[in-house]
Amino acid sequence: MLLVIEILGKNEMDTIGMEEEVMATKDKILEMLQQQDSFVSGQTLCDQLGISRTAVWKNINALKEDGYVIESVNNKGYHLVEEPDVIDPKRIGEYLHTQWLAHNIVYDKKMDSTNTQAKILGESGGDNGTVVIAEQQTAGKGRRGKTWVSPMGNCYFTVLLRPDVHADRASMITLVSALALAQAVENVMGLRTMIKWPNDVIANGKKLCGILTESSSDLEYINYVVVGIGVNCNQTEFPEEIRDIASSICLETGKKVDRTRLLAEFFNCFEVYYEKFLETEDLQGLVEDYNARLINRGKDVKIVEKEQETVLRAIGVDQRGGLIVEDKAGVQRSIISGEVSVRGLYGYV
Ligand code: BTN
Repeated sequence: MLLVIEILGKNEMDTIGMEEEVMATKDKILEMLQQQDSFVSGQTLCDQLGISRTAVWKNINALKEDGYVIESVNNKGYHLVEEPDVIDPKRIGEYLHTQWLAHNIVYDKKMDSTNTQAKILGESGGDNGTVVIAEQQTAGKGRRGKTWVSPMGNCYFTVLLRPDVHADRASMITLVSALALAQAVENVMGLRTMIKWPNDVIANGKKLCGILTESSSDLEYINYVVVGIGVNCNQTEFPEEIRDIASSICLETGKKVDRTRLLAEFFNCFEVYYEKFLETEDLQGLVEDYNARLINRGKDVKIVEKEQETVLRAIGVDQRGGLIVEDKAGVQRSIISGEVSVRGLYGYV
């Protein structure tokens, strides 16, 4: 059962009861307009829905505010000309085949940050597997305290998890997420993507996605983990300073992304990989798949550790998600994400 909670703008409705009532009517009107290539008369809408002309008019205006282009002509009625390019959280269910993930969806057009909202849910007893999705973020967060600029057209979402594993395992979920996203992009868009350790999903040498995992734990016990993911989907312009290292799925494939479908496919893939992770509480069941996508594998990389740079050969990840590197003498060690950053010898990858 998919439960979608759409957060309405404050001025849209006064009471929750009314919200539900008008939401339902608005959806019904939309459905009737979608089913008809030409005009639907105001009278037909009134008769079939048992509402007044004023109610029809109010709901049509609400749809227009949502970005639907609706032509209104006297004596003819209403004609749906164009639908907005938005994620349709209710349609996620059409593509979803998860047992528990994304059965609760919190969706809004604009949020400060989906991670911030998911953490509020985490603190207030939100269910494992709840997802928070926004079209735009006004205070999107990146790693290392950076801002994640979040214009329309991309995916910004966060998964709330309550894994029953030791707190020191939480960071591995970031790698699980990168793998799931890479697979979902391939399944939906046919685009082969790689992963730059630990969690950047890459196509043609450029970053398509960023993942920020935050957790709340009490000694060894995890209270909750939020995995926030930003995917550059339909963005076609990037600021000068990141143009060489960032891209979008649309730019790489020449095709527009159906974000609703991509989100659902991510949830499908993530649930499978995440359950493998829970089985062993590490990445042993995923190392092979992950390493097959590891862009740094077998290559010399620059490891930046406490402002010191060393060139080492990247071998692959180990069961705990560390990157195994080898020096010129053949001595191997595993490095842990968060403590170091990895760069290609001649640039980003
Ligand atoms: C990075 O710096 O690479 C990580 C960026 C993570 C951005 C996503 S967008 C959805 C979620 N909400 C946030 O505020 N951040 C993450």
